[in-house]
Amino acid sequence: LESSEFNHNLLDWYQSNKRTLPWRQTRDPYRIWLSEVMLQQTQVTTVIPYYEKFITKYPDIDSLAEADEEALLKDWEGLGYYNRIRNFHAAVKEVRDNYNSTVPERPETFFNLKGVGPYIGGAVQSIAFNHLLAAVDGNVLRVISRLDADGRDVARASVQKDIKKRIEEIIPLEAGDFNQALMELGATICTPRAPKCIMCPVQEHCEAYSRNIVSELPVKKKA
Ligand code: ADE
Ligand code: SF4
Repeated sequence: LESSEFNHNLLDWYQSNKRTLPWRQTRDPYRIWLSEVMLQQTQVTTVIPYYEKFITKYPDIDSLAEADEEALLKDWEGLGYYNRIRNFHAAVKEVRDNYNSTVPERPETFFNLKGVGPYIGGAVQSIAFNHLLAAVDGNVLRVISRLDADGRDVARASVQKDIKKRIEEIIPLEAGDFNQALMELGATICTPRAPKCIMCPVQEHCEAYSRNIVSELPVKKKA
């Protein structure tokens, strides 16, 4: 990946083609955080109504911090991975109690909150504050492995860390849009099966496409 033209093509494409999603209509770090907690393990179409319900019932840090755990779990029903909402509740209470109900804008501080790992931390800190951090999910691993014709096993933590570093070497100031553009490319064009390379804004930068090995990537071995 050679960065400047690649970045320009990707960001241009994203600006013209991004889906209108409720969490893209806000700059509120709390709402962006909530959306990423939901999106980490659940598809966009499933998340939308849950996101809307949570924003209505719990519009800000204080309302969610004050909520009863049982009520939150009930509202989460159907999304699965219930530790996500338990951790989010605990983290939001920490933000209320220790940070004056303001989502920490320093990555080091944010990463110390309960449930905040590399994905949530990178996503929230880039989208809400434009910190130059990658947000590597399954879509992004697939896209990067193809762009780089990287035949390593993307299920390995060491490969995931390396891909994160790889992205952070080229990430532009519009870090949040850049991360979301990579996710969007993976969700809509560079799909697991039958990717639409013909319509891809970065086809000319794609090593897998030029070598005709797109269908062999990504490699996923570890169970
Ligand atoms: N998946 C994870 N984060 C997302 C986002 N911000 N927009 C769309 N899909 C996503
Ligand atoms: Fe993915 Fe095809 Fe675009 Fe390469 S050219 S990034 S394989 S959609």
